[in-house]
Amino acid sequence: MIIEPIPCFETNYVWLIYDEVYKNAVVVDPGDAKSVLQVLEEKQLSLKTILITHFHNDHIGGIGELKSTFQCEVVAPEKEAAHIPDVDRFLHEGDYVSLGNIGKAQVLETPGHTLGSICYYLSDLKVVFTGDTLFSLGCGRLFEGSPAMMYHSLNRLATLPDETMVYCAHEYTLDNGRFATSVLPNYQPLKNRLEQVKQLRQNHLPTLPVSLGEEKKTNPFLLAKNVTEFTDYRKAKDHFA
Ligand SMILES: [Fe+2]
Repeated sequence: MIIEPIPCFETNYVWLIYDEVYKNAVVVDPGDAKSVLQVLEEKQLSLKTILITHFHNDHIGGIGELKSTFQCEVVAPEKEAAHIPDVDRFLHEGDYVSLGNIGKAQVLETPGHTLGSICYYLSDLKVVFTGDTLFSLGCGRLFEGSPAMMYHSLNRLATLPDETMVYCAHEYTLDNGRFATSVLPNYQPLKNRLEQVKQLRQNHLPTLPVSLGEEKKTNPFLLAKNVTEFTDYRKAKDHFA
C-alpha cells in the first residue's frame, strides 16, 4: 500500500492511499479537485472513497468534481452534515468505513478544531489521518471547541500505538517547531526532531508522516500535563509571532 501527499494551496496535503495492483484509491480531505485529478490520471488510479475530517473549505472544496468524475463514496462527520456537500454516508464515533483491499478505517470523534472533527484510524496499516486536530509538533486552532475538548481529543489519539504513523492535513511542522522550542527550550528530543524537519524542508520534502511515539515525545500539546497547561500553550501559540 502506498500513501503519498498531494500538495495543494499553500500548506495543505491531500493524502492519497492506493495499491499498485488493483489501482484503487482513497483520498483524505480533497480541498482541490484539479491537483488530485492530475495525480489520479498520471497513476491511472480509480478513486473509490473520499474521507472527510471536517467541513473547512480547504478540505472539502474538491468533493463535487471528484465525485462527478469517479462516482466514488464520500464519507464525512454527521455533526457537520449541514456544511458538507455530496456526502453518501455520515459517520459517528466507532463507525468503520470499508476501503476494499486497502482495509478499513475506524472513526474517532476528536472535537476541538471544529465541533464535528473526526480522525480515521487504519489499524491494519498502523496509520491515522488527523486532519487539523493533531499536527506534527502542534495542534489545530480552536475555532469551535473548548481547550478541554481538544485536550481530551489529543489524549485520545495518544492512546493509539506509538508506532502509528500520523498523517495530518498541513505542512506546519517547521513553524510549530519554533513555537515548541519556545516552551521547551534545550530539550534534546525536540532539537533532534527540529533538525530533521529543517533538513527535510531544505530538500522540499514533507515532514510527514511522523510516528505517534515521536509526537508524544516532542509535541508540547501532547506533553501538556493538564487542561490548564494545554490552554496556556494554545493561547501562547495563537499569539506567537
Ligand atoms: Fe480546518
